[in-house]
Amino acid sequence: MKALLDKLYMQNSLEKDGIVYLLKNLDEEHKENLFEYSHKTRLKYYGNKVFMRGLVEFSNICKQDCLYCGIRVSNPGVERYRLMPDEILTCCQEGYQLGYRTFVLQSGEDFWYTEEILTDIIKRIKERFQDTAITLSIGERSEEVYRNLFKAGADRFLLRHETASRELYQKLHPTMDFDNRRDCLKTLKKIGYQVGAGFMVGLPGQRAEDLAEDLIFLKELEPDMIGIGPFIPHNATPLKDAIGGTVEDTLVMLAFTRLLVPDCLLPATTAMGTLNPKGREMALKAGANVAMPNLSPTNVRAKYELYENKICTGDEAAHCRQCIEKRINSVGFQVDMGRGDSFKYQKKCYNNKY
Ligand code: 5AD
Ligand code: FES
Repeated sequence: MKALLDKLYMQNSLEKDGIVYLLKNLDEEHKENLFEYSHKTRLKYYGNKVFMRGLVEFSNICKQDCLYCGIRVSNPGVERYRLMPDEILTCCQEGYQLGYRTFVLQSGEDFWYTEEILTDIIKRIKERFQDTAITLSIGERSEEVYRNLFKAGADRFLLRHETASRELYQKLHPTMDFDNRRDCLKTLKKIGYQVGAGFMVGLPGQRAEDLAEDLIFLKELEPDMIGIGPFIPHNATPLKDAIGGTVEDTLVMLAFTRLLVPDCLLPATTAMGTLNPKGREMALKAGANVAMPNLSPTNVRAKYELYENKICTGDEAAHCRQCIEKRINSVGFQVDMGRGDSFKYQKKCYNNKY
């Protein structure tokens, strides 16, 4: 087991068999070893910095029906909302004053926001806050729309692949297509976005082999960002009685990801903080280097309930900003309020310029 971990650490690669073996057999001692390696790797690439992104959840309306998600179209119990462009700008303004230089605009798949409306929002944000980066997290659109949003000024795009198992993906996403999702990620990358993929840990029926596939998929795609969180059952979904993922298992996946894609940006997700009050701190210690505090208006926060008991739903943006910084400092890291572009992207810019 130690030899496999050493290979993972020294070469940043491991074959599927080795990953599966480790996932099935890791004991406490080797887990500590894994976390030590992932922590060292993170320090080597990013030092003790944690990048901050301000998250604006601008609509909880979604046309998709993912079995795990609280805002799926067939959950009638959700009070739906849409923030208007002016309101989104106000959130960014508040975020800018708090020091954020990246805004993540996230929503359900809500086509009320047409290409024109999104373009307008992006341009207005970029005009007003020139030293910021915009990350979109709005689901699947056509290549043409992706292209035009990029031209309008969007820099990054988050689209988790959710699971690399075709069978599991199809079961969980009755209205979506496994191949299309992967094609979207490739298209986004081709267009020039900094791309974020990612998956959930502890989905019903997910085996060690499936998680190994997630890691292999990520290693091949080499995304700039990788969002990983535990699956948390929501009581108004078909998976309400399922057993959710655990913080422990998610930490292991974060550490593997840091080792296999060492230069990636890896958020300590809200889902981790929801399952354990120290979940995000634990994630940072296992290799995560991004925090995404909420900038959404407090009156809509509780309505963006992807899973149960989501944290921070009553907290003002300024409160989250302070809270997160304290948490980051408590485990020995420092906040970085810069744009926080990925290494790969910085290298690309450098090569293009010189
Ligand atoms: N538990 C954990 N994560 C979830 N997501 C959606 N629903 C849940 C849930 N019940 C994640 C998905 C999505 C991201 C925005 O939130 O991975 O891509
Ligand atoms: Fe929102 Fe701590 S991050 S209250």
